Amino acid sequence: MNTPIEGFSKLTKEEKIDWIVSNYTQEPKEAKAILKRYWNANTGLQKLHDEFIENTISNYYLPLGIAPNFLINDKLYALPMAIEESSVVAAASKAAKFWLERGGFKTTVIGTEKIGQVHFMYYGDSEKLTAFFEFVLPKLHATAAHITKNMQKRGGGISAIELRDKTHDLKGYYQLHCTFETLDAMGANFINSCLEQFAQTFKQEAQTYSAFNAQEKDLEIVMSILSNYVPQCLVRAEVSCPVNELTIADEEAMAFAQKMVRAVTIAKVEPHRAVTHNKGIMNGIDAVILATGNDFRAVEAAIHAYASKDGRYTSLTDACIEDGIFKFWIEIPLAIGTIGGLTNLHPLVKLALEILQKPSAKELMQIVAVAGLAQNFAAVRSLVTTGIQEGHMKMHLLNILNQLGATAEEKNILTQHFKQHAATHSAVVEAFEKLRNSNT
Ligand code: MEV
Repeated sequence: MNTPIEGFSKLTKEEKIDWIVSNYTQEPKEAKAILKRYWNANTGLQKLHDEFIENTISNYYLPLGIAPNFLINDKLYALPMAIEESSVVAAASKAAKFWLERGGFKTTVIGTEKIGQVHFMYYGDSEKLTAFFEFVLPKLHATAAHITKNMQKRGGGISAIELRDKTHDLKGYYQLHCTFETLDAMGANFINSCLEQFAQTFKQEAQTYSAFNAQEKDLEIVMSILSNYVPQCLVRAEVSCPVNELTIADEEAMAFAQKMVRAVTIAKVEPHRAVTHNKGIMNGIDAVILATGNDFRAVEAAIHAYASKDGRYTSLTDACIEDGIFKFWIEIPLAIGTIGGLTNLHPLVKLALEILQKPSAKELMQIVAVAGLAQNFAAVRSLVTTGIQEGHMKMHLLNILNQLGATAEEKNILTQHFKQHAATHSAVVEAFEKLRNSNT
């Protein structure tokens, strides 16, 4: 039976590995070899990666792919995508090429407002609290000036601080609801530092505020933290073309356009479908978010919350046919950055941003929204025409063949074979076994 360990973080990397493989794996020697196989031979680079997090024992690789030919507001991009799922990059590339020939993607940043809150409890007179807030507001700004100075010089900073009464939800609960402009930074550290400073000033000033009684002076700060729900940090991307240009394989253009609109409408009204529909969108979004070193958990949380903002989880994309024009669009919140965090540290992230022509945060918001829209177009187009498995299994074929231990020659023969045949898992295994047996 395994026992808890004290001071794991103090062990050397080698000792951590020895401990984990001997206590939690069946084949410690093999496990250790696997972990070490993923170390980078460049010790400087390895050290950099070791220091991103704590208790590092190895690196976890994901493929980095490129989806070229994205025409966004008349500028051509090649999108770096970090993702493990076969067919995502191929689908994105296919959608990019399709819309390249039809005017490309048009995007707009609707807003860039970030949010943070100081949550506190106060059980006294609410009018006195409002008066105190008016009194303390200039001091909140003044005492945070050392944090906001540089951001302000660049045109950002604190946009507003509001007192919000949340006592109808929870007795005694109030907030300082604060909005920020963080320009090209995602801004999490900036926002949290401001909020913690606000909380400290707020508490200190309350203790000496003469109109408060003893209980009111003792208001309790619960926590100070940014909100990942950023419905005003919003971007829109769209594509459109005359329906008669919507030519896909054997599909009749209007019938295809109507099928697309119907599929999106189903995702709008049916949460089970909406979740999968949006998952497909996130295939594109997360891949670019990861490649550019942004926080995909924050992006996921924000986007899914936005998808249910009207009380029911719904599609993030929309589509219509109007006056003979097919329109397809997405609107999503994206609080992301192109400076700070991993963006200056991770060599591949830096390179990904260079490939994207060093975008500002606003430009990256637009690129990411396009990745989501393109991915959704490709997925829904497959779903309403050939079905998803045809394309997906073609791309997944190599994974199956690798699992089966196929040689380069076998992979070649079977890839050719499955250009003409449906590549289900069992069909691939059967064809592989047949080929192997015929060779032996
Ligand atoms: C698979 O990763 C994504 C899809 O399920 C998305 C969708 O159904 O729209 C194909």
